[in-house]
Order: sequence, then C-alpha cells, then structure tokens
Amino acid sequence: MRPRSEYSEPYRIKVVEPIEATTGEEREKIIKKAGYNVFNVPSDKVCIDLLTDSGTSAMSDYQWAGMMVGDESYAGGRNFYNLKETVEEITGFKYVLPTHQGRAAENILTTILVKPGKRVLGNMHFDTTEGHIRLKGGDPVNLVIKEGLETANRHPFKGNIDIERLLSEIHACGSDGISYINITVTCNSNGGQPVSMGNIKEVSKIAKEYSIPVFFDAARFAENAYFIKKREKGYENKSISEIVKEMFSYVDGFTMSAKKDGLVNMGGIFAASDKELFRRAGEWGIIYEGYLTYGGLAGRDLEAMSRGLREVVREDYLEDRIGQVAYLGDCLLDFGVPIIEPTGGHGVYIDAKRFLPEIPQNEFPAQALVVELYIEAGIRAVELGTAAFGYKNEETEEMIYPDLELVRLAIPRRVYTDRHMHMVACALRNIKERKDRIRGLKIVYEAPVLRHFTLEFERL
Ligand code: F0G
Repeated sequence: MRPRSEYSEPYRIKVVEPIEATTGEEREKIIKKAGYNVFNVPSDKVCIDLLTDSGTSAMSDYQWAGMMVGDESYAGGRNFYNLKETVEEITGFKYVLPTHQGRAAENILTTILVKPGKRVLGNMHFDTTEGHIRLKGGDPVNLVIKEGLETANRHPFKGNIDIERLLSEIHACGSDGISYINITVTCNSNGGQPVSMGNIKEVSKIAKEYSIPVFFDAARFAENAYFIKKREKGYENKSISEIVKEMFSYVDGFTMSAKKDGLVNMGGIFAASDKELFRRAGEWGIIYEGYLTYGGLAGRDLEAMSRGLREVVREDYLEDRIGQVAYLGDCLLDFGVPIIEPTGGHGVYIDAKRFLPEIPQNEFPAQALVVELYIEAGIRAVELGTAAFGYKNEETEEMIYPDLELVRLAIPRRVYTDRHMHMVACALRNIKERKDRIRGLKIVYEAPVLRHFTLEFERL
C-alpha cells in the first residue's frame, strides 16, 4: 500500500463503530434478495458504505459537546443565533433560515422564485433540485462546459458554466424567461467537480446586467474553495475563509444541504441578502419546516451544524479530506480502473462504459458493477447511469440513455481510513481480473418517479 503523503490525519479517533464481516456467499444471497439493488441491503450487511457522503460524516468531540447545550425552545433558541452568526461570518449572509435538509431549502427557493414555463439555468442541477423546479412548472437547463462531460479530460474546473451557452439562453428567451441561475458547488452530477472563482464572477456579472438572481447550491462549498486555492491563479496564498467569503459575495443567496460540508447527520440552510425575498422564504419555511428559528431541526442539531461549518473551512481538514479522495483515485488508476479525472471533492466516479464495454447501456453496466462490488467485498457504491437517469420518451416510446454511465464511490467525511480506501481499490482490481464473466441486468420492478431507489433487477 503506498502512503498518501508524509502527513497524517488531523484528528485522533475517540469512538469506533465495529464492522460486521460477511462472506461472499452470504452477500450473493443478500443482494439477490435485495433485487440487485443496494438500497435494499441493510447497512449492517455492508462493510464499507460509499453510497453517499450525505449525512454520513463523523462529528467531532466539539460538535458532540454542542449537542449537550441544545436549547429546545420553540422560538429564539440560542443555537439558532449561534448558527446565524456562524453563517454570517463564513458567507456574509445575514438572513438565515434553517431547514431539515437541503431539498427542503430547495423547496422554499423554488416555491418563491420559479415561474411556470420559465427556465432555471445552472451548471448541472442535482436531481432533487431538478425535481423541485419541475414540480413548480419550471424548466431546468444544464449548461456545464463540454469538458465537464468528458470523463478523461483533466480540465481543472469541470463544474464551470459554459458562458457562451449561458448568453445564448438569455438572448433566446430574454431575462423574463429565466427564473434564476443556480450554480452547484461543487458539481455533484459530474463527479464533485469544482467551479472556478473566475466563472462564478463572470456568471454573476452577466446575471446582474440582465437582473437575473443567482443562487448557489452550496452543499460542498468548502471543498469547492479548496480547489480554487489549489488550482486557480491568484488564490494560492488566500485562506479558505477568504475564498469562501469571495465566492458567496457574487450570489444573491444559497440553499445548502448541511449533511455534506456542514459535517452533520441532518440539516440544511436557506440564506439570502434581500430582506423581502427572505420574508417570503420565511412564510413558506414556517409552513413546510417549522418556526423560523428551528426549521425542522432540534436546537442541538443547529448547534452541531454551527460548529461543523466552522470546522469544515479549516485547511488541514480539507487537505486531508480531498487528499483521501485523490488517494483512492490514484490507487484505482494504478490498477487500470477508468475513473473521472481529475478526482473531485467528495468521491471517485468509475466510468462503467469504459470499465465494462461489453455490457450495453440497456443492460445497466454501472449497476452490474455496483452489484459486483458488493459481492466482492461488501462495499456499497451507487449507480449514476441508466438506472438513475435513463427514461422513456413518452411520445416515441424510445429509451433515452444518459451520456455518463457512472459508479460513484462517495467518501463519508472523517469516517474511513486510507486502509479502507486501499481495500476498495483492491476489490475493484479483483473485479477487473474477472470482468469478462460479469453479466448485465434487466428490470423486473420499476416505480414511476425516482425509480433507482426502488428498482428490482434480475441477472441476465
Ligand atoms: N444538492 C446537492 C448538490 C446534493 O448533492 C444534494 C444531496 C442535495 C442538494 C439535496 O440535499 O439530501 O440534504 O436534501 N445529495 C446526496 C448525495 C443525497 O448522495 O449526493 P439533501
């Protein structure tokens, strides 16, 4: 096992959670019973869980200590004021509404900003965002640069918005035809890829010219800032906090799933600079989430979130975090496993089209690889390919396949060691050696919306 670097993790481990061992034979039975869908596998039958980096972080002792000073008052609890102060200090936004998770904040934002029949432009909207935009009658449009969809292209900011396409959208439908612009930092849908400060600034400038509001989907804002520091000229000597502040200075507000860079297991935020807009958000917040100062969360959760946000912008934390993701990526490249390059912020994405070229997209190659990885070593990954994004065109009955056929290995924060990462890489190396024997899958049960959570398959 090659060491990642001469540095070690910037924390000691105080509490451990045992992992139950299963055999390959047991896992064969478990996954078959689960309809070859890892969402149906009980988590205690999973050895290394890379299904998501969302809500799976290990909290620090300081965050746990914060849980003991939860103020569970209905209104005006002290933890809300702590959170508000933290958010203002980190992002500059003073109007802050807690929500129970990210999609709840998206629900509020889209309720107040999406106009039926009008577009919401973005780099790549996350699926819950896209769902909320469509539910409110809007039309989500993805404008990520073309390099962002080329898995082997090593462009440093593959989450950037294509400025030419942005302008042509604005010219085509006029600023009245656009509800708002949503920049997802980092861009989850194509590999946790960052957006450059230059791009954020340019989008913001254009948006101002046309009076279109710009929001961040800020789930992984700190990881994005780290990439700016490492890859963008002029930012190498700035602190993460300075970079974060500058990023947020170009937008009118944000939604955030704090389950990622908030380093908590549950929580979200809506924030805006405009008082009137915030008032309207609050009206919907009260209906959907609860009173303005708790937003669907316990006071103790707000405290953990406030403390997590302060920890996530620490450079030693980010160096370790992004370094671990890069380490797994490097191990996989050493073993000849094709991944999205360069690796992004929160996970490694395997290109299943290149890994299993013999399996056509209608036989779910990425899902077949997810299944193999579970059987090989009890590792749970997630499919981001035909199962998640394929659909039937209702008029022509034709199947539409996504460009990318990916398996995401999302890395929880502060949870696994480099040895776990090495084991994941070895499992994929083993699968690669027997990949000619891997078979595709066919669907035997399918729900009408967000089908990938409950799909059931059979092996071909
Ligand atoms: N935006 C982005 C970019 C996300 O990645 C997610 C969640 C959300 C919004 C929604 O936030 O889950 O708190 O309601 N992503 C998780 C994932 C589920 O696995 O990537 P939420």
